[in-house]
Formats: sequence, C-alpha cells, structure tokens
Amino acid sequence: MTIEIPLQAPSPAGLIWRVTRNEDAASDTDREAILEAPGFGQYFTDHMVDLCWSEKGGWHRPRVSPYGPIPLDPAAAVLHYSQEIFEGLKAYRHDDGSVWSFRPDQNAARMQRSARRLALPELPSELFIESLKQLIAVDSAWVPSNPEESLYLRPFMFAKEAFLGVRAAKKVGYYLIASPAGPYFPTGVAPVNIWLSTTYARAGHGGTGAAKTGGNYASSLLPQAEAYEKGCQQVLFLDGEYIEELGGMNVVLVTRDGRLITPQSDSILAGITLASILELAKDRGLAVEQRKLSINEWREGAESGEIVGAFACGTAAVVVPIGKLMGDDIEIVHEGPQSTELAMSLREELTGIQYGRVEDRHGWMLRLDA
Ligand code: PLP
Ligand code: COI
Repeated sequence: MTIEIPLQAPSPAGLIWRVTRNEDAASDTDREAILEAPGFGQYFTDHMVDLCWSEKGGWHRPRVSPYGPIPLDPAAAVLHYSQEIFEGLKAYRHDDGSVWSFRPDQNAARMQRSARRLALPELPSELFIESLKQLIAVDSAWVPSNPEESLYLRPFMFAKEAFLGVRAAKKVGYYLIASPAGPYFPTGVAPVNIWLSTTYARAGHGGTGAAKTGGNYASSLLPQAEAYEKGCQQVLFLDGEYIEELGGMNVVLVTRDGRLITPQSDSILAGITLASILELAKDRGLAVEQRKLSINEWREGAESGEIVGAFACGTAAVVVPIGKLMGDDIEIVHEGPQSTELAMSLREELTGIQYGRVEDRHGWMLRLDA
C-alpha cells in the first residue's frame, strides 16, 4: 500500500516529478539496526527513482516510487546485448545533519560519456543531480551518521525495448537506487593483496574499458574468482606489459620522494577519486605522473627501493593501500609505515572534505538535502 503525493511544480530541469511514498518503509528500529553495520551493497533504502526515455518523447515521467522489482519484457535488449551503464557515488552526512555529495557533476558527465559509447541516450546533468536530490528528499534517514559510513548511490540506465534485432534500443530506463555503506573490503582500510591476471584482459583499445558498463564487470568475475582462490581481494589487469587498473578501482604507485605514478590509457575508467587524489597531491607540491606504466617498472622499482608503496582508489573503497601484488611468477611486497603513509594521509584529507571536516577549497561538495 502506498500513498501518492500529488503532482508537484515543474523541477529546475522542467519535468514534473511524481512521488509515491513507501508505506511499508523499514521501521526506525530496523533501519537503525542496518545502519549499525551496513557492510557494502547488501541493504537498500525504501525508495527508488526511475525515468523513461523514448526516441520520440526524450526523457519523461520522472518518479520516486517504493523500492521494488522492475517489470521487464523477456525480450528487453539489455538481457540479450548488455546495453547498460551505471555510476557510483556517495551521500555523506555532516556533523550538522546536512547531506552532501562529492563532485556529482563528474559522475553525470562520465555517465554521459558511457552513454555515448553504449549508444544510450545522454541524461542531462541537471536531471542526474535532480534524481539524487529527489531520492534523498524521501530517504535521507538512510544516510548513516557513523564515521566513515555513507549512503552509496547507484544510478543506472539500460535498454528496455523488447526487440531482438541488434541495434541501439529506442526505449531506455534510468534508475537510481541507494544502499547504506561501510568499508568496501571486510578488512576495512588494511592493506589488500592483489592478483595479477596474465590470463585475462579487462578491455582492449577501442573497446568499452573507459565506460562504466556492466559487461566490463561481468568479464572481471572469473579472474576475480581466481584472485579469491589465491587469497587476493582484487585483480590487476594489464594491457600487454602495461598496468591498467583493478576490477573496480584505479591504481597508484608511490615513489620514495613522494611522486605519484598512475597509468594513462584509453581503456581504463577515469576515476573521480583518482582525479581528486592527484589534485590534492599537487596542492601539496607533490609531483604527479599519469603515463604508461609497465609491470616491470613496478617490480624493479620495488626491488631498488624507488617505489615504496601502492594504493587502490575508487568511490566504494576510497583509498586502500596495496600490501602485496601476486601473480604466477611475480611477488611484490610493500610493508612498513612508509608504504602506507602517503596513501593514508591523502585518504584522510579526501574523507575530511567529504564529511565536512576539512575545508572544501575546490568547491567539490554539493548539498543534496536543500
Ligand atoms: N575503475 C573501475 C573499473 C571502477 O569500477 C571504479 C569505480 O567506480 C574506478 C576505477 C574508480 O572510479 P571512481 O573513483 O570514480 O569511483
Ligand atoms: C565504485 O567504486 O563505485 C564502483 O563502482 C566499484 C564497484 C567495485 C563497487
């Protein structure tokens, strides 16, 4: 049973949102129990957003509805040809109770780039931001107040048209769901072990590696399972001898003199966490190198003492030191305080900005609940 809120005035993006409240929303007690230990991606809030797109009508019918199953024709193109993209960002609660997001304009822009590559329609940035605000307006109680917890926001878009011919769909849906989140890795921010996959590649030149599309993650699952077998939490993918990225995070190496080196490639995802960390490092006067980076350079640098540490970064994981890289005929170990110091201090500064403890000098934060 739900109650419909009458049609509201047109939004800044010019559309009229229909909000249907979930009458079976979780009780305060149940929600608070979940927020005590949310883990990652296991629980979902009471509502969701969806919008339709059609070739004729463009973006229309924006709704906030009770969270629940999406009716889908068995011939929906996404189920056959994976025409799908997604995003990931977080809502943070500040000490005064307000709710903020971090550089959502960047997620909106990346979703547009992913859409172009997957022949999906581009969602205007203001509609993307509006969807976040609309969901927070009904689900703000789900934004945790515990330190280092947040509400993970997952926008996604897929081909809904029921048609088995292989071409770009003429009917598409955009959705937004949210999930309270603690640390991505059950081990928290402790150093992780990474498995170097030499059997499988994540992406190729001209492929979809730079787009945030489900297929990239589907193809990472088998190597990821191999990584778990070897006692590793993530997989590192290569392009030949060159380092690309992990299954769901970017990689950065740290040199003895505090330089940061990260791979440049047209087949990796342009991480917003990565770009922000590099910006913070530059603000500290540290040198940043974004260039081709071979696995040998990492191995030799670690052996000579030139490379003292490495870290993974992404929205879900934030910044997590890499303790070990393991592969069929390689093992690189980073240990001791020097291996994690810079990564942890950049993490501290970034989360400080996100949670409102550190001045937002770049204007990265956007308030969602006002
Ligand atoms: N690379 C991949 C494959 C990812 O899935 C992610 C996570 O979104 C990232 C990198 C990091 O991107 P961001 O920092 O924007 O979350
Ligand atoms: C994110 O960090 O937002 C991602 O999409 C990565 C995924 C492994 C959860």
